[in-house]
Amino acid sequence: MRSKNIFYKIAYKLHKMGFYFCSIKFYAEDQHNYTNIKFINFFIYIFNFIIGMWKKFPIFLTNSNYYEYLEIPITTACTLKCKNCSNLMPYYKKPCHMNMDQIEKSLNIFLTCIQNIVYIRILGGEPLLNQNIIRLINILLNSGKVQRVEIVTNGTIVPRNKELIRLLKNPKIIVSISDYKIVNNKKLQDFLKKNNIKFEVNKIKYWMDYGNMNYRGKTIKELKKQFRKCSSVCKSLINGQVHLCPRSSHGTDLNIIKDNQDDYVNLQDENVSIDEMKLKLRTLLKKDYIKACNFCDYGTKKCKKIPVAVQMKK
Ligand SMILES: C[S@@+](CC[C@H](N)C(=O)[O-])C[C@H]1O[C@@H](n2cnc3c(N)ncnc32)[C@H](O)[C@@H]1O
Ligand code: SF4
Ligand code: SF4
Repeated sequence: MRSKNIFYKIAYKLHKMGFYFCSIKFYAEDQHNYTNIKFINFFIYIFNFIIGMWKKFPIFLTNSNYYEYLEIPITTACTLKCKNCSNLMPYYKKPCHMNMDQIEKSLNIFLTCIQNIVYIRILGGEPLLNQNIIRLINILLNSGKVQRVEIVTNGTIVPRNKELIRLLKNPKIIVSISDYKIVNNKKLQDFLKKNNIKFEVNKIKYWMDYGNMNYRGKTIKELKKQFRKCSSVCKSLINGQVHLCPRSSHGTDLNIIKDNQDDYVNLQDENVSIDEMKLKLRTLLKKDYIKACNFCDYGTKKCKKIPVAVQMKK
């Protein structure tokens, strides 16, 4: 058990490092430092190679699925209204909390299908708005297959519920504060420190502009190229469906993207056996593009860096 934990810890660090490398690359691009960009691209290539080899370790292959990461939005309500929210929150005209019975049911099937998962992020919207977060954290902690749980918050809410505070102290949990200039998150930081709750402050220099939700009419060749270049690893669970990215899950939830059953796994399909479900989850990871990419600029030259968390006018 102990050696397994070390594997997961390294996998978690590698996953996080992937994000950092992308940020360094974007920073070099920002500075127009093309020599560095070439060097960093080379470094990312080697890094991806190491990750690829790492995933060939038997621990990740034992005849069922290894999922590195999954995010679970538990609400579409938010305390901010960021113009370029990657999870499309401003598109929700009637924000609401997700159905926790449905999350629990589908998550149980997901956890039955997979061998282990390095980390799950609970987010939204603003996840601390939904008191049902307690129920979800309990499910994740009791599963034994989830190595880490991150709660991603915009820093506007300080938790007050005693049971939630008790759960947040669990060593498997980390509160990840997105550090936005428009929010003073000192209260939250002080509170977490005082209660010995592990947290990180995510200093984000800029966001990426994924563009509007209009259909772009790209060819399959273009979509495959875009998908290859997209660094999105954010598998997302909504309505009992596992999607490859939040653009796909929220876009489908909002009925902006037509329901494409090839682009997600429906964990609620009662006609599918657990073995078939495992196969579907594996097959999903092998896709070379999804229809949502036709509603997105990420991975193309159109996708530019933009200021973080700019608010919409009323
Ligand atoms: C969608 S938010 C949800 C959680 C919480 N409301 C928050 O803002 O931290 C999850 C993460 O996505 C990041 N994010 C949102 N829009 C983004 C964009 N256009 N480009 C890059 N990151 C983005 C946020 O900074 C945050 O760390
Ligand atoms: S990025 Fe902004 S709008 Fe989107 S969920 Fe986070 S705080 Fe809310
Ligand atoms: S829609 Fe496609 S290109 Fe856009 S973030 Fe998702 S996977 Fe990447």
